[in-house]
Amino acid sequence: MIQSVNSVPAFDNKQQYSTIAAEVSEAVLEVLSSGRYIGGPFVEGLEQQLAAYTNVRECVACNSGTDALYLALRAYNIGAGDEVITTPFTFVATCEVISAVGAKPVFVDIDATYNLDLQQVAAAVTPNTKAIIPVHLFGQPVDMTALMELASAKDLLVIEDCAQSTGAMWNQQKVGCIGHIGCFSFYPTKNLGGCGDGGAITTKDPEIAQKIRVLKDHGQKSKYHYEEVGVNSRLDSIQAAILQIKLRYLDTWNQQRQKIAADYHKFLSHIPGIIIPQELAGGTGVWNQYTIRVLDGKRDFLRNQLQERGVNTAIYYPRPLHLQPVYQTLGYQPGQLPVVEEACNEVLSLPMFPELSEQQQHQVIYSLKEIMS
Ligand SMILES: Cc1ncc(COP(=O)(O)O)c(C=O)c1O
Repeated sequence: MIQSVNSVPAFDNKQQYSTIAAEVSEAVLEVLSSGRYIGGPFVEGLEQQLAAYTNVRECVACNSGTDALYLALRAYNIGAGDEVITTPFTFVATCEVISAVGAKPVFVDIDATYNLDLQQVAAAVTPNTKAIIPVHLFGQPVDMTALMELASAKDLLVIEDCAQSTGAMWNQQKVGCIGHIGCFSFYPTKNLGGCGDGGAITTKDPEIAQKIRVLKDHGQKSKYHYEEVGVNSRLDSIQAAILQIKLRYLDTWNQQRQKIAADYHKFLSHIPGIIIPQELAGGTGVWNQYTIRVLDGKRDFLRNQLQERGVNTAIYYPRPLHLQPVYQTLGYQPGQLPVVEEACNEVLSLPMFPELSEQQQHQVIYSLKEIMS
């Protein structure tokens, strides 16, 4: 057995911080001495940079990816009586916002890429369907060409959940600029992760952007004049200053993730009993997670054995949303969405972060080969 001198974390952002610590400290001190801690030039600067990066006209920062999704639904007046189609294989936020605006989540199964099965999306459309929320899960883009064709044929909105995919592309276009609106998270584990909570929406539609600016500021159209119920969803200036720095490195960090994924592909593709993540031609993934499938009921065994060899892993997600207690009232039954249900029993996310060293990756690959052979 390889001697695991150090354990390999599933995720680590301390190393990344150490590479930009001086720049971050300087920016944080600049915000502190400016006296402007919410909104202002740092937030506006970040919005402009993100809009340019995503190739959209407008970006509005808010205080989380969850709020970005909520505000997108509110801006398009989605609510009671409306249905929104989404995936049951995602972080709960994608779905809870549908419930939060009073609409009904409609779950359809996933395909081998872990993303929405678009044939099933088409089959799930009813006269009440207003929108689809595709999630570019683990950093892999959904087939946005096919999805936009489907949506436009049925006159549906597409709200892209880009929380795990900042920088990913479909046919050379950044996610977040292909659907009607893009929703991003800056939670620290994301590809563009802040030092706290944060989020943003991207859109080509200035009216929608303006509506979101009002909604996120208590529904305040002008000072102390409220026409609708809003929320407080502002991004702190300190986060914005840090995210501006990190955005400059994002493509490099994503390339490092792509190199790590390519090496995992190369060395894991022939190991019996596991399936490496599937990608679509046309997609450029940014590997927020590298998630394999472990067959024959061996996932937990492999996970425990890896842990014994110092290799930490994660399970995203252990239970599909349609079978969570909170969605029991929607009436889904076990076996109804078989692909996602099987995936939840088989998925295992291997260590993935831009600074994962060759030696650490070797430890992961070697251990995995040894356990599975
Ligand atoms: C797919 C997905 N959607 C939405 C969110 C919500 O983002 P946040 O944690 O910033 O609210 C997350 C992240 O946690 C996510 O992974």
